[in-house]
Amino acid sequence: MTDPILTLDTLRMVYNADPGILARLTGRADPPVIAADDVTLHLHPGKTLAVVGESGSGKTTAGRIATLQERPTSGRVLFEGKDVTDLTGTALKAFRAKVQMIFQNPYDALNPRLTIGQSLAEPLTLHGLVPKSELRTAVLEMLEAVELRPAAQFADAFPSELSGGQLQRIAIARALIIKPRVVIADEPVSMLDVSIRSGVMNLMRGLQRNTGVTYLYITHDLSVARYMADRIAVMYLGAVLEEGPAEALISGAGHPYTRLLIQAAPDHRASEVKRQRIRLPGDAASQSGLPTGCRFHPRCPLAQDVCRTKVPPRVDLGTGQTAACHFAEEVRQDGLAIPA
Ligand SMILES: Nc1ncnc2c1ncn2[C@@H]1O[C@H](COP(=O)(O)OP(=O)(O)OP(=O)(O)O)[C@@H](O)[C@H]1O
Ligand code: SF4
Ligand SMILES: [Mg+2]
Repeated sequence: MTDPILTLDTLRMVYNADPGILARLTGRADPPVIAADDVTLHLHPGKTLAVVGESGSGKTTAGRIATLQERPTSGRVLFEGKDVTDLTGTALKAFRAKVQMIFQNPYDALNPRLTIGQSLAEPLTLHGLVPKSELRTAVLEMLEAVELRPAAQFADAFPSELSGGQLQRIAIARALIIKPRVVIADEPVSMLDVSIRSGVMNLMRGLQRNTGVTYLYITHDLSVARYMADRIAVMYLGAVLEEGPAEALISGAGHPYTRLLIQAAPDHRASEVKRQRIRLPGDAASQSGLPTGCRFHPRCPLAQDVCRTKVPPRVDLGTGQTAACHFAEEVRQDGLAIPA
């Protein structure tokens, strides 16, 4: 495999770690939240890594750290092998030109008072990439690339005149117009109508084929992850429980949580992707009161005594997959049927 272009290396992110003396004295301190705990992810050039997990599992936290919108409590972000965790000033600006983010809600990415053309020209000007005389051409080319035609008409429209799907195409165009190496896409289709989701996903795949851009694709939906990604990382309560090639992980998951997600997922074909949140029996514990031993044990149908006391190792399953479970080999072979 090629060297990773972007690595999140043993990240830990604790919110409310230091509530301040006044909050402590008055008893109003929020408990610390461990949003990421020993998270390691590798993005390979031109490929897609999907990060899947329930609400609150730490997906957006990982994405925000990957774009250096937030700095981790500990751990490192590596870009092309170099530690970029503490970049500031012009070096940070240069990094941001290479690592872009697309959000769930395209309205957040666009200024309602600017035309689409102005919004698309803005990042080119900010990073000094295209002379003023060539901005219009660059904008029209990008609108063509995201299949919004006639391009000139879209360039002169305002966001309020466009549908949600069209706006998300603009947000994608805005992220890609400066030719970044990596795009972090945080649930880019989950707010769109089911009927237009596969069009946007296919567009992203096509743009990747044409430009070689690398994606970190965040989703609740394992079927979307399977459709979009080369590799999948499954997160739960701030930790990566399983990671591996998409097909190997879906056909032979080594973690009981991944198995349960697969059972809960809708049909994987993109045309049938439904608006569905992952629903498993029981409540996820909170990051401020993590279970002892395996963090998944309160909800795991296979939990044994050892699971309550001993943190499971990350088991290499020899298929390019790793799974953090005491019984990963057995689960991969026999599924949830095994008497653990
Ligand atoms: N700024 C913050 N301050 C305090 N806690 C935070 C902050 N941002 C996130 N958290 C907490 O960190 C945990 C992980 O949040 P995160 O947004 O990364 O989850 P997520 O997997 O993206 O969830 P969702 O699927 O709902 O978007 C949650 O418990 C969340 O409440
Ligand atoms: S270590 Fe135990 S509790 Fe955790 S996932 Fe594996 S079987 Fe379940
Ligand atoms: Mg999120």
